[in-house]
Amino acid sequence: MRQTLVAGNWKMNGSRSKNQQLVNAIKSGLREGTTTEVAVCPPAIYIPQVMALLQDSGIHWGGQNLSQYTEGAYTGEISASMLLDYACRYVIVGHSERRSLYGEDDALVAEKFVVAQRAGLVPILCVGELLEERESGETEAVIGKQLDAVIEAAGVPAIGEAVIAYEPVWAIGTGKTASPEQAQEVHAYIREKLAAQDAAVAEKVRILYGGSVKPDNAAELFAMPDIDGGLIGGASLDAESFLSICHAG
Ligand code: 13P
Repeated sequence: MRQTLVAGNWKMNGSRSKNQQLVNAIKSGLREGTTTEVAVCPPAIYIPQVMALLQDSGIHWGGQNLSQYTEGAYTGEISASMLLDYACRYVIVGHSERRSLYGEDDALVAEKFVVAQRAGLVPILCVGELLEERESGETEAVIGKQLDAVIEAAGVPAIGEAVIAYEPVWAIGTGKTASPEQAQEVHAYIREKLAAQDAAVAEKVRILYGGSVKPDNAAELFAMPDIDGGLIGGASLDAESFLSICHAG
């Protein structure tokens, strides 16, 4: 049985006072006995603050990005070991905003995945197609290629130790959610693709859905057989919305 995971990707949002309110509200609002695993990924500068607030809470935290290098003259970058130094469990790798706005290609994403995992972080590997790719019937080919780059660099067993997030680019921040059936179709494709190489890995890996997940669509999405939770953007900035998504698992 895969444990549902709901992770908040705060992107470049927050402030010390807002974070404190948000994290405290999540901590106190999370229902006792909830079986869903919960994580938040704040901007890197706020990770120490979030660590202090969440220590011993059972809620995990993680980074939104990392450098492919371990240390050295890379101005502005943050390494895997720095994230670990602040007890991050997760790091998002290959988010579509990193791919499209910062030129991260499949090869670089694969490199970051390997570096994160080797250091002891759990990568949340994001994959997803653009609207024009979906409309021209290329969804599976695009996602297959994004996955293959990581499988080639890290090997299939490594995927079993990571988390995958399917985030159709056209659904991110647009209010347009993939329907549960549309999302399930892609999640099943990912799992079948992995199963063709290693059935145990396919069965084990958690595949999250991301893209305009809100309190009113989370339960329906999470009920699909191959959807194991969500990677939440906008709705993770509001405690009430985020908690209601966490409780939909
Ligand atoms: P939204 O939930 O704001 O659409 O963002 C999704 C996302 O990109 C999470 O990583």
